[in-house]
Order: sequence, then structure tokens, then C-alpha cells
Amino acid sequence: MSEKKHRVSRRQFLNYTLTGVGGFMAAGMLMPMVRFALDPVLRPAEETDLVAVANVEDITNEPKRFDFTIHQVDAWYESEEPKSAWVFKNEAGEIVALSPVCKHLGCTVNWNSDPANPNMFFCPCHYGLYEKDGTNVPGTPPLAPLDVYVSEVKDGKLYLGKAKPRGEA
Ligand code: FES
Repeated sequence: MSEKKHRVSRRQFLNYTLTGVGGFMAAGMLMPMVRFALDPVLRPAEETDLVAVANVEDITNEPKRFDFTIHQVDAWYESEEPKSAWVFKNEAGEIVALSPVCKHLGCTVNWNSDPANPNMFFCPCHYGLYEKDGTNVPGTPPLAPLDVYVSEVKDGKLYLGKAKPRGEA
């Protein structure tokens, strides 16, 4: 093989150099744009703040349903999500706010709506039952207690955040 075959011509050298430098500069300019475009998708859904749901004086020992909305931001999509909570004071006088979403398949549970099972949360979809504190009744379809809302009392009002599995709220 002759030495000439392995030589890089001036034209090729310039081509390689300009392509490399151009590609590097293009990547430098595009990366921030790509990152800016994808950032909302890569970020987890924003934790919603606590929202005022009820006056503490309206909360009794009997579970009462309170409806409210939360502002939710998920990537580029912002929405007002309707929510509900079953709220009552337990024997210790603490406020309990339970999610009405059944832990079986997600239907809505109601308080004291089944005449055969008074003073319990009842899910009409598959006859799920929960005790007043949200504990699932063994032998009925739900396999976990109702979720509990993160809550805070401030200036006579009850504020609720996300509903979490019991023990995590
Ligand atoms: S969804 Fe509630 S019992 Fe099935």
C-alpha cells in the first residue's frame, strides 16, 4: 500500500473539522431547548398545597361529606380536580378525613347508606364495608383501609392535602 492512500487531503481535513465543530456547537445550542421542552414531563406531578375544606365547628362525631377542588399541575396540564372527604371527630376528639374512594375497585363509599350495616362505610359496587375509622371489614371485597387525607387545622378551618394510605398521611 502506498503512503498516499492514507493521507487526508486538506479538503477532507476541513470537512471533518468543520463538521465536528458545527455539530458540537449545534448540540450546545439544542440541549437547553430540548431540556426546556422536556422538563415538565420529567418532573413528577406537583404536590398540591393544602386547601381549606371545612369550618372546624361544622365537624361532628358523625362522618359528613365535604366536597372541594384542588389545583393540579401535571407536566403542561393544569386542572381543577374535584375531591371529597368523609370528615368526623373520633373518640379522642381528633379530626379524621377519609377518602371516599373504595380500595377494591375505586367506587365511592357512603356513610350509613346500607340499612343492613348501620354506622359503617358502604360501597354499593360489590358490597364493600368499612368500619367508621376506615378499616376494611374482613370478608368483604376491599383488602385495605380507606386512604387518609393529610390534614391541618388553622384559624378554625380544616385544610386537606393528598389522600394517602393509612400510616403515611
Ligand atoms: S369497588 Fe367497592 S367493593 Fe368493589
